[in-house]
Amino acid sequence: MKALIAAGGHGTRLRPITYSINKHLFPIANKPMIFYALERISEAGIKEAGININKGETEIQRLVGKGDKWGLKITYIEQEGGALGLAHVIKNAKNWIGRDELLFYLGDNIISTSIKGLMDKFRRDKLDCLLALSRVSDPERFGVPIIKGKRIIRVEEKPKSPQSDFAVTGIYVYSNKIIQAVGKIKPSARGELEISDAHTYLIEHGAKVGYEEITGWWKDTGKPKDLLEGNALVLAGIEQSRIRGLVGRDVEIQGTAVIGEGTKISQGVVIKGPVIIGANCRIEKAIIGPNVSVARDCEVKETNLKNTIICQGSRVIGCKKGIARSLIGRDCLITAEDSTKPRGHRLIIGDKAEVEL
Ligand code: G1P
Repeated sequence: MKALIAAGGHGTRLRPITYSINKHLFPIANKPMIFYALERISEAGIKEAGININKGETEIQRLVGKGDKWGLKITYIEQEGGALGLAHVIKNAKNWIGRDELLFYLGDNIISTSIKGLMDKFRRDKLDCLLALSRVSDPERFGVPIIKGKRIIRVEEKPKSPQSDFAVTGIYVYSNKIIQAVGKIKPSARGELEISDAHTYLIEHGAKVGYEEITGWWKDTGKPKDLLEGNALVLAGIEQSRIRGLVGRDVEIQGTAVIGEGTKISQGVVIKGPVIIGANCRIEKAIIGPNVSVARDCEVKETNLKNTIICQGSRVIGCKKGIARSLIGRDCLITAEDSTKPRGHRLIIGDKAEVEL
């Protein structure tokens, strides 16, 4: 079995962040999002992975490389003709897939558990397609299965009135029959080859399609709010504190905290875990956490942070009202302005922005 990771597209719902960072490289708990998919794939015993990328993309290739880190042999596959839908991603990789079975994994999906159970079920029940489902409060955002008895009879893509509270997650296991399905379906009203249509095609053409509910949490990180929730979920899973930097004696650490090498935390800082702070940061006079990820080379002074992700090289100084529920890109400078009234600001800004508050 090979694994194919979808990491193309433009991440339009995450602008302006995605103007300068590929969505799949955005850090969740200080780790590029796509690394989570690679870890799950490797843990499932797969050795060969393909990554679907936009034409001319180089940043993913530079960061992920050949895959040695995960014991994977990685091939990069450019999507010809642009982002034409998830079924098109498979169609486009047809030659690379050959006659093998396929684990298709959307690079912006993060789950808390291993996918070994899914693979076992796929084999045990001799399926052609296994859909991993998760119960959600907003199924209209996803592919939704119509289940009769114990069988899926159809999958609807983003239905206006969903007929179940299950979403089809972005983790699919297929026999080689998927190649025929993606070759036969027609583009949807929005001009894309929908993966849900390929699933319905399989069902209607006698393929064995099964499903399994994902145990633990699942996150599709399509919107800023999802990134923050994904970040909080990953941070909550950190079991032990690891303090490598220099923590002053007047600093208080509550809950779990991971603090990188060369980082200096001083002047009465309170860390309310779960929190992760990368290498070479300076943190002074602040309350940090819960659910905060600060990447390497950042500076946070006189500013309380809550439920926030800050990317590499940014500086947040003197924002007395505090910053909450925010995504801050790389190399941003956020400073205070005299006339600022109290209360927290909410910021979702791209790289190299400078904001005076
Ligand atoms: C895609 C699929 C959808 C699936 C979702 C899971 O949607 O089209 O069927 O439920 O991924 O993450 P997208 O997130 O691309 O809108």
